[in-house]
Amino acid sequence: MTERTFSILKPDATRRNITGKINAVIEGAGLRIVAQKRVKLTQAQAEKFYEVHKERPFYGELVSQMTAEPVVVQVLEGDNAVLKYREVMGATNPEQAAEGTIRKLFALSIGENSVHGSDSQDNAKIEIAQFFDDASIPG
Ligand code: RTP
Ligand code: MG
Repeated sequence: MTERTFSILKPDATRRNITGKINAVIEGAGLRIVAQKRVKLTQAQAEKFYEVHKERPFYGELVSQMTAEPVVVQVLEGDNAVLKYREVMGATNPEQAAEGTIRKLFALSIGENSVHGSDSQDNAKIEIAQFFDDASIPG
């Protein structure tokens, strides 16, 4: 079933100027980038986005990394896009990521792991709505 997921190319990717290389992996996997923009997250945006991790020890570091430099926020569309993009991203820790995944290819560490992808269809809708007017994105 065609669906949409939300993606972030994180500051370690924009800093190294490798967003095009990551997009090539995304497109190579059959996912279509239907919306994309470069933004600098505010403290409030990052805190809200990662609210589920508020009690985790890495929350402060995560928020400060995500606001340090610009990110690219994206809407990806395709067959089973949520699950497919999780597979294309690879494991959170790049040392455990499978060959050919974005995190295996590009991530620097568990914190600077190059990409975010929604973990469910419900969260994809919530996350897309935080950055895009979903209804106006052509399919
Ligand atoms: P994401 O949400 O970014 O797509 O990544 P994920 O589902 O694979 O990982 P999640 O458990 O949701 O964690 C969110 C992000 O927090 C950072 N993190 N740091 N230092 C640490 O132990 C640690 N653990 C997680 C990572 O940047 C991870 O992507
Ligand atoms: Mg997550």
